[in-house]
Amino acid sequence: MNKLKSTLLSLVAAAAVAGCSDPGSDREMDRFIDGLMKKMTVEEKIGQMNLIAIDGSVMTGPVTESATGEKIVSGEVGALLNVMVPEKIRDLQELVVTKSRLGIPLLFGMDVIHGYNTVFPMPIGLSATWNMASVEEVARISAVEATAQGVNWTFSPMVDLSYDARWGRVAEGAGEDPYLASEIARAYVRGYQGDLSRNDNLLACVKHFALYGAPEAGRDYNLVDMGRMRMYNEYFLPYKAAVEEGAATVMSAFNEVEGVPAAANKWLLDDVLRKQWGFDGFVVSDWDAVREITVHGIGDLQEVSVRALDAGLDMDMASQGFAKTALESLGEGRITEKQIDRACRRVLEAKYKLGLFADPYKYNDLKRLETDILTPEHRAAARRIAAESFVLLKNRENTLPLARKGVVAVVGPFADNRPNQLGSWAFGGDIEAPTTVLEGLREATKGRAEVVYAMGCNITDDPEYERVLASWGRALARDKRSDAELMREALAAARRADVVVAVMGEAAEMSGEGASRTELGMPAVQQRLLGELKKLGKPIVLVLFSGRPMTLVEENDKYDAILYAWFPGTEGGPAVADVLFGDAEPGGRLTMSFPRSVGQVPIHYNGRQTGRPAPADGSITRYVSGYVDESHLPLYPFGYGLTYTTFEYGDVILGSAEMSPGGTIEASVEVTNTGSRPGTEVVQLYLRDPVASVTRPLKELKGFEKIRLEPGETKTVTFTIDSGMLEYYDNSLERVLEPGAFDVMIGPNSAETKSATFTLLK
Ligand code: BGC
Repeated sequence: MNKLKSTLLSLVAAAAVAGCSDPGSDREMDRFIDGLMKKMTVEEKIGQMNLIAIDGSVMTGPVTESATGEKIVSGEVGALLNVMVPEKIRDLQELVVTKSRLGIPLLFGMDVIHGYNTVFPMPIGLSATWNMASVEEVARISAVEATAQGVNWTFSPMVDLSYDARWGRVAEGAGEDPYLASEIARAYVRGYQGDLSRNDNLLACVKHFALYGAPEAGRDYNLVDMGRMRMYNEYFLPYKAAVEEGAATVMSAFNEVEGVPAAANKWLLDDVLRKQWGFDGFVVSDWDAVREITVHGIGDLQEVSVRALDAGLDMDMASQGFAKTALESLGEGRITEKQIDRACRRVLEAKYKLGLFADPYKYNDLKRLETDILTPEHRAAARRIAAESFVLLKNRENTLPLARKGVVAVVGPFADNRPNQLGSWAFGGDIEAPTTVLEGLREATKGRAEVVYAMGCNITDDPEYERVLASWGRALARDKRSDAELMREALAAARRADVVVAVMGEAAEMSGEGASRTELGMPAVQQRLLGELKKLGKPIVLVLFSGRPMTLVEENDKYDAILYAWFPGTEGGPAVADVLFGDAEPGGRLTMSFPRSVGQVPIHYNGRQTGRPAPADGSITRYVSGYVDESHLPLYPFGYGLTYTTFEYGDVILGSAEMSPGGTIEASVEVTNTGSRPGTEVVQLYLRDPVASVTRPLKELKGFEKIRLEPGETKTVTFTIDSGMLEYYDNSLERVLEPGAFDVMIGPNSAETKSATFTLLK
């Protein structure tokens, strides 16, 4: 063992004794890192700022002989991403610890987005649960499964607000509302990071900072241009919430903000994130984003790396901007060693907090592979939470729940389609693990109803589109028979049936990264099949897979029931069966407005009043802020979702008509289950400041509560409104509380509320 290594080990031992086991001990951490950094060369410090993807040679041979292995041994790498084989992670960690000069352990990052091996609903679906305990549970289970395989850092949560369903990455987000998305961001961080002294929690990475969900025209990576008042009052809030909850790392966005790409944007990374919000973790770029700044057009790799470091970027993902240029920039005086030290220290601090210096093999307990992955408990949670994410959009004359009798025809390209059930970003998901909707329905009806199946059509009949989608790697399960033949088979099955369940929608690869769409309807071939099925006069239940809001005006008019199932994950099939037969409720409420047509996009409920508002009932007139060919209202509003029972809301009762600054007011409403089945309601509180010094949103969600009511039961739901909920950032970006009237609105969704008014006193 060389002298330096033994110094490090004694430092580690001292730290372990003195306080590594107590991650709260900042002084111990500082002492430890000071000692370590004194031993580091500048090259080794720059190495900590380098996150690389593994090359193929790691996967095919011994890590010691790979190109990555060589870099690791020479201290050029601080973290790796996408190593999916637990044994390889263990080998790589051992390599760095035993063979590199200082033995600084590596971070292993991965996009663990909606579960790892057990795949949960896509995040947009998970957000529709409005259940923070469920979000936290998903993050917790994801952490358990990922850490069992050596992953100690997830690139999640993504909390980019978006009003634009064309943007494919709405699938990965938490919808359009700043408050709800902030609560969700917090729940993810709690679930992932929990207690980092354990070996089954990991580092979270909130992304993509900032404003990535607002690209012009819905085109991924495109220009974002937005006023700061909107940033502070809307788009920034979920990132800020995640930071407040203690997110250890932040990922910068691909897009530019005010003319400077986020990874080199000093105002964003330094002023807002660190100075205003107090973030003290490290910032990593998005994939190749530092190099891509050269394509944006503000300099060569050296120049943009200088700017990124100065802005406060600490780690480069994949483009090796720091690795390739920092030494030279230092020699030329374009950056200082202090700046390198700052970034390196932040990375080392994260490793320390994770406990890697105390035990570099903390996440390499290979025995956990047998006990912690795809367990019956994880699968049961996936089933329960999937049902909770499904949104019942339509239910004509109680078509649902279905009785277990007669013949059920199951059709559609997603009825028996394992890969597509998982959605995008499901790397750890075993493609064979999901139970499909067809299998779920068969299991649920065994011996009581007959299930007949015909696929009926392919996902799309556009070969060019199919080629693009398939290039992303996921098979589209094309049936080679002709469209006519497939349709004939489905119609024959449907003719025999009492009810048709059509499982349709968009393929997993039609949403997610780089998958923006200009059309938001169902693919034409699926619409044709539905049209023919409709002619048979049987009740039709549409179960839709999708990662985004789709335009469903025609479907809403024509079919009997619509259940929006997003991409429901490993247990999506049984969960669909649970809901269709009424063993579980459809628990979801929309977290994005569903447009009537693409032309309405971007659309969101919390817009601001214009001087010429369109009629509140959605009717069409001219010279108002609407359209002459379409209502300005969405088809389904934010917060919307039916249940198998009905609820009635009483009037909003305020505890007082006046509030003093710093005070509170209670707002209550009685909710009664007026139907014949038990049911869960999401009672939503919205506020409006109708007259302020600048224009304010028409409505802002400020609270919600999920309640379960037996038939005939009434509960009083009480929200406490405090004056902090009335504050906002004005156009000088001052946080202000302005006296005057405030409207309190409570209801089952953003469009159906009852209201009362109080006055905030001076
Ligand atoms: C995505 C990130 C992701 C990263 C690493 C990028 O293309 O934008 O969300 O975390 O890749 O896989």
